[in-house]
Amino acid sequence: MGKAMKKLAVLTSGGDSPGMNAAIRSVVRTCAYHEVECVGVYRGYEGLIEGDFKAMDARSVRGIINKGGTILKSARSKEFRTEEGRKIAYKQLIDAHIDGLVVVGGDGSFTGALIFNQEFGFPVMGIPGTIDNDIYGTSHTLGFDTALNTVVDAIDKIRDTASSHNRLFFIEVMGRDVGHIALNVGIAGGAEEILIPEEDLGLDRLVESLNKSRKSGKTSSIVIVAEGDKIGKNIFELKDYVDENMEGYDVRVSVLGHMQRGGAPSCFDRVLASRMGVKAVESLLEGETNYMVGLLDNKVELTPLEKAIKGKSKINLELLRVSDIMST
Ligand code: F6P
Repeated sequence: MGKAMKKLAVLTSGGDSPGMNAAIRSVVRTCAYHEVECVGVYRGYEGLIEGDFKAMDARSVRGIINKGGTILKSARSKEFRTEEGRKIAYKQLIDAHIDGLVVVGGDGSFTGALIFNQEFGFPVMGIPGTIDNDIYGTSHTLGFDTALNTVVDAIDKIRDTASSHNRLFFIEVMGRDVGHIALNVGIAGGAEEILIPEEDLGLDRLVESLNKSRKSGKTSSIVIVAEGDKIGKNIFELKDYVDENMEGYDVRVSVLGHMQRGGAPSCFDRVLASRMGVKAVESLLEGETNYMVGLLDNKVELTPLEKAIKGKSKINLELLRVSDIMST
């Protein structure tokens, strides 16, 4: 058991994701429930260095559970990567009598939190917030489920125009290093092919697969491409390749981009954020530090930050097989 904590801080860092507001609300209200003060830090680690803090009580987070983005704003801080920057941040926390910090973000944000703890012994707890779902130690990151629904909605709309014009669409979805979004929306959106960074399909197999689809009577096709896919240097080169090497295709490209990161969080993300916030605060109050809270077998569990950062979030191979069968 560490010393009794009287005041905690929460910040959001890195790329925003739907559900971050619900997580802030949960952290603030769990603090209020346990009669611990809570402080919101603006603009992630930037605000930590500048001492941009705001006291938050239970009522200050009303009406945000259904809002996308983050009311505390987010940033990727260069200064926090320096020892000098982290020293200033530590002083700000001590001056404000803050005893522990909840960081909502991705692996880059967790790396910062872990180094910060190793240097100053300051208690930290992570909540995984990123649409990419690329963090070890949780089956779902905050925002992943919402992003899937947003993307499926977009694919359905593109499918309407693709089939009206007998076109082939390459649709790029987010996922810098992993294909979780691509694989799931590909199945849910009925894609003919899904290109993900984990599996090098190769251009020849892509061509073969498109030819097979056409022979089987399909008049329009959708290929989902994760932004981190390695086949083409970018999605426009895939289009050029098909234009140059395949007869009779009318090809279009659609890059969905940052619309995938916005919007009201799904019910799943709101519940997940609420559960994770409770666990993060209560773990800090119990004297735990250097963990990330995550969903494992539908239970909210702790994973050491070091493991969450270094571990690989693996693609579900069964989904790959299902997608192959479904595109028959
Ligand atoms: O981390 C999530 C993510 O949306 C990635 O999929 C994407 O590559 C990246 O953020 C883009 O981030 P930004 O435009 O904020 O630099």
